Amino acid sequence: MSKLLILTLFVTSGLLLEAQSQQKDMAMSQKIDQLIAQLSLEEKVSLCSGRDDWSTQPIERLDIPWIWMADGPHGLRRAPATNKAGYGDQHPATCFPTASALSATWDVDLIYKVGQALGDECQALDVNVLLGPGVNIKRSVLGGRNFEYFTEDPVLSGELGAAYINGVQSQGVGTSLKHFAANNVETMRMFMNSNVDKRTLHEIYLTPFEIAVTKAQPWTVMACYNRVQGIYGTQNPYLLTKLLKEDWGFEGIVISDWFAIIDRVEALKAGMHIEMPHVSSVNDEILLEAVKNGALKEAVLDNLVREILTIVFKAKSLDKEGVELKAEAHHAFAREVHSQAITLLKNDNKVLPISKKKYKKIAVIGEFATSPRYQGNGSSEVKPTQLDKVLDIIEKEYGKWVEITYAQGYKLNNDVDFSLIAEAVKVAADADIALVLAGLPLHYESEGIDRKHIDMPASHNKLIEEVAKVQGNTVAVLTNGSAVAMPWVNDVPAILEAWLGGQAGAGAVADVLFGTVNPSGKLAETFPVRLADTPAAFNFPGEQGDVLYGERIFVGYRYYDEKQIEPLFPFGHGLSYTNFEYTDLNVSASQITDKDVLKVTVAVKNTGEVLGKEIVQLYVSDKECTLQRPMKELKKFAKVELAPGESKEISFELAKRDFSYFDAKRNRWIAESGEFVISAAASSRDIRQTETINLKSTQQIPLMVDEYTFVKALWDNKETRELLKEMIPNWIGGWVPEGKTMDEANIPGFFLEHPLIKFPYITNNEMTHKDIEVLIEKCHGMTYLPSYKSFEDVENVSFE
Ligand code: BGC
Repeated sequence: MSKLLILTLFVTSGLLLEAQSQQKDMAMSQKIDQLIAQLSLEEKVSLCSGRDDWSTQPIERLDIPWIWMADGPHGLRRAPATNKAGYGDQHPATCFPTASALSATWDVDLIYKVGQALGDECQALDVNVLLGPGVNIKRSVLGGRNFEYFTEDPVLSGELGAAYINGVQSQGVGTSLKHFAANNVETMRMFMNSNVDKRTLHEIYLTPFEIAVTKAQPWTVMACYNRVQGIYGTQNPYLLTKLLKEDWGFEGIVISDWFAIIDRVEALKAGMHIEMPHVSSVNDEILLEAVKNGALKEAVLDNLVREILTIVFKAKSLDKEGVELKAEAHHAFAREVHSQAITLLKNDNKVLPISKKKYKKIAVIGEFATSPRYQGNGSSEVKPTQLDKVLDIIEKEYGKWVEITYAQGYKLNNDVDFSLIAEAVKVAADADIALVLAGLPLHYESEGIDRKHIDMPASHNKLIEEVAKVQGNTVAVLTNGSAVAMPWVNDVPAILEAWLGGQAGAGAVADVLFGTVNPSGKLAETFPVRLADTPAAFNFPGEQGDVLYGERIFVGYRYYDEKQIEPLFPFGHGLSYTNFEYTDLNVSASQITDKDVLKVTVAVKNTGEVLGKEIVQLYVSDKECTLQRPMKELKKFAKVELAPGESKEISFELAKRDFSYFDAKRNRWIAESGEFVISAAASSRDIRQTETINLKSTQQIPLMVDEYTFVKALWDNKETRELLKEMIPNWIGGWVPEGKTMDEANIPGFFLEHPLIKFPYITNNEMTHKDIEVLIEKCHGMTYLPSYKSFEDVENVSFE
């Protein structure tokens, strides 16, 4: 068969499949229209709430089925029945590492596979929609649900969320992207108002949702409990309709977080579909009444019902029969996943990995070695299919060539009991290396409760300090869902951040300690020295139901950069048992417009002796800008595996959005003309290579002028300057030096920094209030040139 023929067949069969699927969609949409015509008003209303805790409302008379939703995100918490809460009696399922661990892998392919495994388990346990992922930003290190969220960075969060969703949904199971939006505090979570300015909302808190929706189309989005700028997430038309549907093209349905609905009618008007769980028939009656009295148009209800049924039928059509829960295979996979997340924070004198040559006797210390902490508290709690323990695994898998001793070190139920430390110190002193397993006990990190401080229990800190005094080779192995303070950081040579590793995490910890796996995790959140150093320190958790996002866009590393604060360990940091060298950062052009795609390549080489993986981070810095901008922002990243001596070229593409800020006044993303620095980095504080490019904006942005526009803006713009020259020639003339033109007038900044409305007084009425109206009128249709400098700087830009 000729190549052409094969290609033709390939294309034709592709087109055929597409046509078939379009036909199917059309048939389904017709079927749904017919059903809507047959549904009574009461039935339509009932479809907009759950049937019980976990299922949607069926209408048996018309063969409308129900679907099952279950938590999420890092494993399946499926209740024994849809009308049971499912705490404690949930069906066993694989407990994967929680999101803060997953994010430390920075590995979109791996997270996609985790999603596939989760989707597969949903099929095995008859669940149609998995309630996750959570892509809320870790605004404060105290956030009670930080363990369940990915990171402090919007791009990383969005990309990982998209990978997770695509993975789950590849199995014919839906997801619920949560908690939309600006849900970053647990205190007063049902009422808290996230008082966040619009620019910050877009740049930091909405971006992860936008990326996840546009790249992965989750079947459902979960509206949050909190208010955003005063309006509940469940009844916020700007969020649910304008952004989600109209701007981002969301095709699924919005469900409420459990018991989040306050005003049922407002919620539906705003674009919410299903209230979860079923709360009471009173709520249905309210809705029914609203449709009857015209407060809610029946057409709006019909549309919501149409979208609900589309998802319900889609879910049912993708239901698979006879899928078995692959408990053993998924347990092994969970171990592999976690081994990619574990983050080596410090490794002085190459204390790790543990090798036969170096150590004969190992002291394993800490109750976590026998009672593992492996997930967080709250709705995400999975009942694992099995649970590994570090001490068992080390003894079983590595104990043949090494002698192992154990000391409990602390009591999990008493943070200030130091009575076990003396024995642990003895055991440590008697060994060649001490592994101290410490961190945060379960009750420290929980949905519904924020942390009050970032300290580990006093008994854990004291244990590490005392062991380090007698054992030079002390390794702190930490188990916690988010950052902790480490007062003993300089006393120990090695620190391994092991996160909340899920049911098979213990094996992964052993694999990394013993060098079977070379650690490759990097921090997706900054570890501060002290709470007072953190961005939201003054504004967390908020008070009287209101939390001010006072640090604005300076969240996470953006803040530490701006304040020049040295963190304990920076965002993006993580060591390996090998080293990587970065060379040859190249950009495809040094001059671009905002319509171009900039290709960036960098070579990374493994210069050490063992195979390893490096996470390459690409940051963009806007050198000068009209608005304040962070010193740098992560835009791209890649994880690459390299054999010793091997080198690979990594390539990235940067486009307009990667250079843009969100202009809240103009309600749009703007890539401003000027210089941008592109940095290839091993962490946010380890920049290896940089290149500078020049961007020329071609955006045609309407000039916005009103009586409060500052005269400086008009003076700096070529067209409007001409208007000023016409209107107030005498006043401007007063600032022109001898022999110079009006354009060279030295108008003092003091005057330019006044709004137009003040100019009648300033110009002694040369500009009247009437003139201001005329000027505003004349400015309509003019263009704002986004540039940090005056118009001369962008004069040569050619607009299309
Ligand atoms: C949580 C959600 C969860 C839901 C169902 C809520 O309290 O905020 O994340 O999916 O409960 O358990």
